[in-house]
Amino acid sequence: MASNRPFGVLFVCLGNICRSPSAEAVFRYIVEKRGLSSRFNIDSAGTIDYHEASFSRSLWLIGDPADARMKAAAIKRGVLLTSISRPIKPSDFDEFDLILAMDKKNKADILKAYTIWNKNQPYDVDSRDKVKLMCSYCRKNEATEVPDPYYGGPAGFEKVLDLLEDACEGLLDSIMAAS
Ligand code: 4NP
Repeated sequence: MASNRPFGVLFVCLGNICRSPSAEAVFRYIVEKRGLSSRFNIDSAGTIDYHEASFSRSLWLIGDPADARMKAAAIKRGVLLTSISRPIKPSDFDEFDLILAMDKKNKADILKAYTIWNKNQPYDVDSRDKVKLMCSYCRKNEATEVPDPYYGGPAGFEKVLDLLEDACEGLLDSIMAAS
């Protein structure tokens, strides 16, 4: 956080309707509580539509609010999910300082997208190191991934929030310690 520009954090999952909008909202909540909102640029995105080949199968996810089950679980913890889904885009690698993937497949897909975009129009600086696994910031949980809750029951949504609360605290502490 050396410059005056707000520190950019982008959370990424598959559809951008469950895990990453929750990560965005939980991180925003914690940042606000610590009075640090003006120092951060926080957003979320999905990998499902990162290049044209997958456009048709993902069209319905673009511009959707978060999943109703995810929103209901989050609001019980005082966290309001307001974001509208969008796919990750080439300029995200310029705009954001950290790109947090919810699982290993998301991370691999983000890096695949980066490789394609970098080939088409090379970035000024190599941004691959910006991509990290969200759970690498967990301090209370052993999990290495935030599991996809979409096809499961209510416990999956609670698990997502448990992991995200832990990881977001660790993430904010890590960013602030480096500033
Ligand atoms: P997310 O969950 O990646 O956490 O937003 C999913 C949302 C939608 C689908 C899968 C996972 N889907 O297959 O449509």
